[in-house]
Amino acid sequence: MSLDHPSTPNDLSAFWMPFTANRQFKDTPRMLVAADGMYYTTADGRQVLDGTAGLWCCNAGHKRPRIVEAIKAQADEMDYAPAFQMGHPKAFELAARLRDMAPDGMEHVFFTNSGSESVETALKIAIAYQRAKGQGTRTRLIGRERGYHGVNFGGISVGGIVNNRRHFGALLAGVDHLPHTHLPENAYTRGQPEHGAHLADDLERIVALHGPETIAAVIVEPVAGSTGVLLPPKGYLQKLREITRKHGILLIFDEVITGFGRLGAAFGADFFGVQPDLMCTAKGLTNGTIPMGAVLTSSEVHDAFMHGPEHLIELFHGYTYSGNPIAAATGLATLETYREEGLFERAAEIAPYWEEGLHSLRGLPHVIDIRNLGLIGAVELQPIEGQPTARAFQAFLDCYEKGVMIRTTGDIIAMSPPLIIERSHIDQLFGTLADVLRKLA
Ligand SMILES: Cc1ncc(COP(=O)(O)O)c(C=O)c1O
Repeated sequence: MSLDHPSTPNDLSAFWMPFTANRQFKDTPRMLVAADGMYYTTADGRQVLDGTAGLWCCNAGHKRPRIVEAIKAQADEMDYAPAFQMGHPKAFELAARLRDMAPDGMEHVFFTNSGSESVETALKIAIAYQRAKGQGTRTRLIGRERGYHGVNFGGISVGGIVNNRRHFGALLAGVDHLPHTHLPENAYTRGQPEHGAHLADDLERIVALHGPETIAAVIVEPVAGSTGVLLPPKGYLQKLREITRKHGILLIFDEVITGFGRLGAAFGADFFGVQPDLMCTAKGLTNGTIPMGAVLTSSEVHDAFMHGPEHLIELFHGYTYSGNPIAAATGLATLETYREEGLFERAAEIAPYWEEGLHSLRGLPHVIDIRNLGLIGAVELQPIEGQPTARAFQAFLDCYEKGVMIRTTGDIIAMSPPLIIERSHIDQLFGTLADVLRKLA
């Protein structure tokens, strides 16, 4: 095929889609062609309510004027600047803005292009930090069962989702996992569950097993999202912080979905009042529009690298697009949109209405649990015997037909709308889902 003969737009064969049942999709495609505010427009001209902020990323909703303008203006002014040994003002400005909005003590920012890259970056910084402190035996990384930390080798090694791991060989050596925090006795809890803080104590067992002097860092999502919304029991994250601190282990919060207002605070660290040593972010940083991620670190971590001759590179790590000008301009416009519209506070204000609507689905056919925090909600369905995932996926298809976008993981329906959501949208979302659940086989 030459460039003068572009293929027809309905040739779907070339694009190998990510995390998608490719053959099924290409048989009955679901194409989105436009987006504005809370709604997508489909190729056949229907409006679909965005119940998931894209993929947990469009926290300010779609087609936001300030963000659109910033992208256009930056593309016009300077498209790209080398990221190594050169700089441009907006990357510095964005890093300073992030530092200012982050919990006290998170002083430095390393730019990446995605959540997965933020995770790899944080894991590498953690190991290199321990080495820089003269503790080179601390190389082990501890993740958690059912954790999701993106798809690169470090992330799937510390992650705990079996299908994301088992096809890809031996993964990173020296990794262990905490138990997940999902306990049946917490079913239908509103907000943070009561039971399960003791699950953090398992870290003491892991430390005793391997020796603290072998462990570099623990990484967890403050709220596990992609695995189906698993909430931290009350006191759990505080305990993890105490135990990591006691043993000289760094605590990394993967805030790729909990960052930028999802819980009604800037970060999960603020919401839970627990201070990590490093934070991974992405998604909402640029409202999902231009790929960008950022790792925030404490001064303690950053300063450990700032030794030796000043003309030498301190950290042998970085990406061609770290702090890319268009991404940086987009990040600045996004943070400004969050600020001027008070979107994090707005999320906190509307969260009780969200919780009420979500829990009104209790008692509908197949529903076995409902859980929520901030503007996150999950409805867990009883799987069809012998066909795990089929029931929830059918709910997803039926909702889409009825003009509402939800997301499913296994037999769990997860929802995480843009923070601009209004009560009428919440009614539409849960009203449609209720209709769908009533008719579901
Ligand atoms: C907690 C967490 N970490 C990492 C990632 C990976 O982000 P990305 O898909 O941008 O690589 C995700 C994506 O959903 C996530 O939820």
